[in-house]
Amino acid sequence: KEIYSFNEVESTNSVAKFLAKQGSPEGTVIISETQTKGKGRRGKKWESPSGGIWLSIILKPDIDPSKAPLITLATGVAVARTLRGMNIDARIKWPNDILINNKKVCGILTEANAKFNTVEYVIVGVGIDTNLNVDVLTEDVKKRATSLSVEAKIEISESETISNFLNEFEEIYDLFKLEQFDDILYDWRKMSQTIGSYVEIKQPLGKVLKGTAVGINNQGALILELNNGKLKKVISGECTLKE
Ligand code: BTN
Repeated sequence: KEIYSFNEVESTNSVAKFLAKQGSPEGTVIISETQTKGKGRRGKKWESPSGGIWLSIILKPDIDPSKAPLITLATGVAVARTLRGMNIDARIKWPNDILINNKKVCGILTEANAKFNTVEYVIVGVGIDTNLNVDVLTEDVKKRATSLSVEAKIEISESETISNFLNEFEEIYDLFKLEQFDDILYDWRKMSQTIGSYVEIKQPLGKVLKGTAVGINNQGALILELNNGKLKKVISGECTLKE
């Protein structure tokens, strides 16, 4: 499998998208030391100085587009497993943040391109703060962010972390291709920080929902028990843990 490694790109997801369109096969990995236009979810900027792992994987799964969100959950499981393998107590916040001690250490941005109800390619972008000095981040990001070296109190080997992650990813992606979604979701729930917590979800159009997160369904949607006792399925939104 091909790994492209750069010192600086605008965004590994953008490079991956370009290569996927040019015919690069499934499993191609793009890694960069820094990104000048790192992309976060909901059009946010993702600060990407050196000291982090910024990578994207090209996937070309033969699936129904509705299954694509599960790739994000599966990737979260792969990252959490990688960190747990380093004795770090990583937890997953719905839909796809990895937290250590309630602070974000990793974000995942999945971009899928569907045509005529088939998936052309899926780009999975993963950003992990490894040896990043969080003080270099902007004020509001800094408050909520941490890095592996801060939490583990040792310098982290980026190459080792990348190879462990790619192994974990391959393992879980094989389950995904076999449509063993229950196994993926089982692990996700086990490592979830969200389930059982009282949360606030800011939905894309600005509406705020409050309630207890009681589960996720087979599509990766969050199930909330609202204050009036009713259950509500939430497909996307910004989740804040309240306790
Ligand atoms: C989030 O908002 O939590 C998602 C952040 C995803 C960042 C990664 S870094 C590698 C890849 N390339 C990008 O431009 N974004 C993703």
